[in-house]
Amino acid sequence: MSNANNPTVAILGNGVVGVALAKGFSAQGYQVVFGTRDANSAKTTEAMAAVPGARAATFADAARAGQLAVLALPWTGLEAGIEAAGADNLAGKLVIDPSNPLDFSTGAPTLAIGHTDSAGELVQRLLPKASVVKAFNTITASHMVNPTLVDGTPDMWIAGNDDAAKAQVAALLRAFGWRAPIDMGDITASRLLEPLAMLWISYGVRNNHWTHGFSLLGQKT
Ligand SMILES: NC(=O)c1ccc[n+]([C@@H]2O[C@H](COP(=O)([O-])OP(=O)(O)OC[C@H]3O[C@@H](n4cnc5c(N)ncnc54)[C@H](OP(=O)(O)O)[C@@H]3O)[C@@H](O)[C@H]2O)c1
Repeated sequence: MSNANNPTVAILGNGVVGVALAKGFSAQGYQVVFGTRDANSAKTTEAMAAVPGARAATFADAARAGQLAVLALPWTGLEAGIEAAGADNLAGKLVIDPSNPLDFSTGAPTLAIGHTDSAGELVQRLLPKASVVKAFNTITASHMVNPTLVDGTPDMWIAGNDDAAKAQVAALLRAFGWRAPIDMGDITASRLLEPLAMLWISYGVRNNHWTHGFSLLGQKT
């Protein structure tokens, strides 16, 4: 459990993913500060109640307080949330990006961008002095921590420009119950990881089933 000497993670966004990852960090002893547009909303109150010891602040104050941050934001709010957090407040820090660039305008989600750009790259461009690592985007929120499924443990794919930041995320994933993640290279590999999430979503929509995960068999040892 957390105490005042433990590191603080800024969870920017207090929706489904924000709360799931906040619980995981809290269980590892991190202090959690949610960045929120409304610290007094029922949703923020609920998020804090779900994570013992968590507090809520503006996006900027949360970003400043965190030694690392998680962008638990939808595609439509990604730029606004980052702008509210402030690039300077995240400079020099690990920023974990579980987002997917989903367009819901025609009903079932589709990818808003791909092939030549990605949400991960956008985030890194908006936060040039942060070490952005794409992670957690290919699994449902409820399996982001302790991801064991009935027929095995899925794998997590990550991407980012900074090897030290990816090693930090790998250690976190191990602590959260994952195997060593599969490192797909620099942040441009988000162009692969975000469509992989689309495959996950499409399977979910076709089967109305939301507890699946990916695993890579026969990995290089
Ligand atoms: N849900 C999943 O299982 C899952 C799995 C993998 C990846 N992802 C990805 O993770 C991200 C977060 O998903 P989620 O399911 O947690 O979404 P969510 O439950 O809708 O929560 C989104 C959060 O972002 C905030 N937000 C929305 N628009 C904003 C804006 N313009 N400025 C600042 N904050 C804003 C919301 O705040 P308010 O309460 O103020 O609206 C809310 O706290 C998405 O990119 C999603 O594609 C989701």
